[in-house]
Amino acid sequence: MVATTLFLVSLASFALASPARSNFLLHERRDAAPSGFANDGPAPASATINLRIGLFSNNFPGLEETLFAVSTPGSDLYGQHLSLEEAKAFMEPTTDSLNAVTAWLDSHGLQATVISPYGEWLSVQVPVSKANAMLDANFDTFTHVETGTQVIRTLAYSLPAELHAHIEALHPTTGFGRPLSAGRGPVITAHNRVVVNSTAVVGPNAVPASCATTVTPACIQSMYGVPTALATSKTNSIAVAGFIEQFAQTADLVTFLKRFRTDLSSATTFALRTFDGGVNTQGTRDAGIEANLDIQYTVGLASGVPITFVSGGETFSDGALEGFLDIINNLSELATVPQVLTTSYGEDEPDQTAATFTKLCNAYAAYGVRGGSILFASGDGGVAGGQSQTCTNFIPAFPSGCPFMTSVGAVSGIPPSETAASFSSGGFSNVFAQPSYQATAVKTFLTALGTTNAGKFNASGRGFPDVSAQGVDFDIVSGGVLEGVSGTSCSSPTFASVVGLLNDKLITAGKPPLGFLNPFLYANPGMFNDVTLGHNTGCNTNGFSARAGWDPVTGLGTPNFAAMLTAAMAA
Ligand SMILES: *[C@@H]1O[C@H](CO)[C@@H](O)[C@H](O)[C@H]1NC(C)=O
Ligand SMILES: *[C@@H]1O[C@H](CO)[C@@H](O)[C@H](O)[C@H]1NC(C)=O
Ligand SMILES: *[C@@H]1O[C@H](CO)[C@@H](O)[C@H](O)[C@H]1NC(C)=O
Repeated sequence: MVATTLFLVSLASFALASPARSNFLLHERRDAAPSGFANDGPAPASATINLRIGLFSNNFPGLEETLFAVSTPGSDLYGQHLSLEEAKAFMEPTTDSLNAVTAWLDSHGLQATVISPYGEWLSVQVPVSKANAMLDANFDTFTHVETGTQVIRTLAYSLPAELHAHIEALHPTTGFGRPLSAGRGPVITAHNRVVVNSTAVVGPNAVPASCATTVTPACIQSMYGVPTALATSKTNSIAVAGFIEQFAQTADLVTFLKRFRTDLSSATTFALRTFDGGVNTQGTRDAGIEANLDIQYTVGLASGVPITFVSGGETFSDGALEGFLDIINNLSELATVPQVLTTSYGEDEPDQTAATFTKLCNAYAAYGVRGGSILFASGDGGVAGGQSQTCTNFIPAFPSGCPFMTSVGAVSGIPPSETAASFSSGGFSNVFAQPSYQATAVKTFLTALGTTNAGKFNASGRGFPDVSAQGVDFDIVSGGVLEGVSGTSCSSPTFASVVGLLNDKLITAGKPPLGFLNPFLYANPGMFNDVTLGHNTGCNTNGFSARAGWDPVTGLGTPNFAAMLTAAMAA
């Protein structure tokens, strides 16, 4: 999980929107910039904003209904995923919306480009002076104090009243997002570790005892029963999201496979797809811990499943939203979406706006309806968001609050004594309400919780994570050196590999891939190793405790491959 810590900076001053002209209607506002940002005053009038305009889909409720029909075991339509064109029929904006927005832009001398395969996202370059006038806004320059990164945002903006029915989200406006800097990825827990002799001592279930302190692919295979045999489907794939110009080092992957997967060809590698000027330079410096971890624990665990590293460029430097939108739009262009997309980056929910978050989440629903599983690391700040920070009320991590993706928390130890990692982010969204698939599981948890932490979290929100996996002290190779890393960054690629291997078995048997996972996961709680030990931390509390059943630290638990395969084949 990559995120940034923050300094607490007093932000006493904030701009109010200038008096609205009669046809303007406020669309979104926030009281102040998120903590950690300083307002440096009005943005230069001539600076350019790359404004992304999200139009309402013509029938998102229809898409959502279809998503649940194709993803809920027992439904007549289970597994009958939609094509790009079929998803587009729900997702595209109406001609009225397109015409209204085009006319509005035209009246300001602007022409937009369509940037999503369903046509619901437009982008247009707008000078700040024009953006202020068009949106009745005051775009200021804000500096993220810790990194010095500057962003142009407004604390409020309005739209002509007649456009409210057509425009759902605008970015960048009131959504911030913290710059993600390289090297902040998974926590590095040890350096230059001597390779462990994993056959030396054997613990319960033939899991090497060394797995309690150092995790390797062999540990995950033995703990979760993950097959070592090569997958066979060539149409199956796992996409690994790469950002901030990190790339996965091929030489490190070879070294990793030679050490940890002597049964696999060390030439096993990954395909590349880039967007937004993403790189894969393979220079000896500047690879990324995160990218190396994510590739080593997909290529090195999902044996034989085709893996694609999807590398984004610099646009991600001023926050996650652009990068997340661009990668999902980029992959959704494909006739067949990668059946699994794993991302180990995230931020804090309050930094985003509800409107843009909703629009991003809707794109995940469309990905799911087409047969893709979206997995995210839940975050490394416990109940304090994406990264540990000062707080009174719990801070939900972003985008784990979206109900159309699968959030993965972290544990350590060996089943049946796996223990929640204290950094494993979990909690409840303030943007999205609890989806019905988790109602029973969450209710059981909340009843057992009683009044603990009452008032610090939103009990009606979508609870996360959904599941968990090992996430402490993973051996990876970085720059030729063995390093130990920890974080939910380890857990998401691990769970993604399990799903990728399940999909291989399904596809080979002539069945559809799992697609949007959550209804299937919550309908089969028995296919997990329930984690009942440990708790997360944050905001000067002991956070939430792991309990029997679902909990907002470890979700439903960690994967039991054989049980998941049986349930998947029967679904
Ligand atoms: C690893 O442990 C096994 C069993 O004790 C032993 O036979 C083997 O020589 C060890 N290998 C190394 C490289 O230490
Ligand atoms: C999406 O990915 C393809 C393949 O890498 C690339 O050619 C295209 O430019 C990308 N689109 C955007 C908008 O970045
Ligand atoms: C709590 O979550 C709901 C969504 O379930 C949301 O509508 C509400 O605004 C949230 N409350 C707060 C205080 O954020």
